[in-house]
Amino acid sequence: MKIAVIGSGGREHAIAWKLSQSKKAEKVFVLPGNGGTENNIQVNVNDFAEIRKFCESENVGLILVGPEDPLANGIVDFFKDSEILVFGPDKAAAQLEGSKIFAKKFMKKYGVATGKFWEFNCHKKVQNENLQDVTLSGVEVQERDASKTIKQLNGNCVIKYDGLAAGKGVYVCSTIKEAEDALIELKEKYGEEVPFLIEEKLVGSELSILAFTDGENYQVLLPSQDHKQLLDGDKGPNTGGMGAFCPVPFYTDDLKRQIENEVIRPTINGLKEENFNYKGVIYFGLMITENGTKVLEYNVRLGDPETEVILPALKSNFLKLIFSCFDGSLEDYKMEFNDGYFVDVVLTSGGYPKAYKKGIEICGLKENKDELIFHAGTKKEEDKILTNGGRVLNIVARGETLDNAIENAYKKCNLFYFKDVFYRKDIGRRDFRI
Ligand code: AMP
Ligand code: GLY
Repeated sequence: MKIAVIGSGGREHAIAWKLSQSKKAEKVFVLPGNGGTENNIQVNVNDFAEIRKFCESENVGLILVGPEDPLANGIVDFFKDSEILVFGPDKAAAQLEGSKIFAKKFMKKYGVATGKFWEFNCHKKVQNENLQDVTLSGVEVQERDASKTIKQLNGNCVIKYDGLAAGKGVYVCSTIKEAEDALIELKEKYGEEVPFLIEEKLVGSELSILAFTDGENYQVLLPSQDHKQLLDGDKGPNTGGMGAFCPVPFYTDDLKRQIENEVIRPTINGLKEENFNYKGVIYFGLMITENGTKVLEYNVRLGDPETEVILPALKSNFLKLIFSCFDGSLEDYKMEFNDGYFVDVVLTSGGYPKAYKKGIEICGLKENKDELIFHAGTKKEEDKILTNGGRVLNIVARGETLDNAIENAYKKCNLFYFKDVFYRKDIGRRDFRI
């Protein structure tokens, strides 16, 4: 079967790499792909008509969607009458990522563990009739004054824009001034009527849990952790992810049981109750707090950079796993993982996430072509590979222990170079607070 992977980052390179290992994958196209992926097709990821034209002309049987935008824009619905299978949730279900207010209402309705929240100007936004009825701990959300809420929380809150903002719509605040400034910035960016949430600030260790689902059953991948901030020690601005590792050592049997009972099962039950067409990946962004595990966010797709460690760690057949979500065999799929630990260090362009230069030649690729790396912001120009984005290369390594994997990954980072390259030196070594 021919397969099309939609997207252009490290996640999509990892997906295409893993799919290519399956005998049944005759050819894997990447739309539009990057300097490291093969069979690239230059198509806009939101131009569904063009994607369809290409897939029909090439007899593509399966589409895998990497980024959230095409899912939120309804790519699954667009292909509803087609024989081409699209892996992912439909537009209604994709609101679990596309609208943070929708997600919180869903969690509340189905008893999924999450932190307290207050919503503002949500009446124009939430599209699912059923979820309008949810009572939110007696908080009169529509009228409530945001400044008052901020003061009551003493500024210890998180302010979130309701819609998709590529990670830029979340403000984690510690003082009243910070929170009020965040509110001003939000209104400047999105207008006075901007729908947003104020959440209690949760403290603990973050964990990413990803599960494959057919809308009724699920299978969980290895637990992983992303490093979102730019600098060592989780300092500096948020980025698209500076690295990841898996599995996570603090994922005990007790924690696993708690997450299954209080997070995964109620969520899958909600998908079923709402009758969502959801054959895809559901990603739980979790905070392990002293008062239990709480969901920070849902994503409706594989995470980036988590995928770059999770897929190398997956031993069982990836394509079969995807198909099991369509043919009713997910429950019987035998999920197997490779031993050891996997670490991904992201090499970024100097200046990222602010302004940075593009078009810089990357050295070391030809000499080390057998090393496992996943390209992100790169492009091919004649026989050279140039930088073409903020996050450039994912350097992935395995080790028997987490320490070995970290050591191997950092040794490997020395094999690749481009001017002004920057990366975190503490991937896998976050201070586990619990
Ligand atoms: P989100 O896109 O909602 O996952 O938020 C992005 C990041 O902000 C998360 O990965 C956390 O690091 C942080 N964050 C989000 N919500 C909270 C919260 N309620 N308490 C503390 N940190 C949060
Ligand atoms: N790693 C976080 C995300 O994919 O959104």
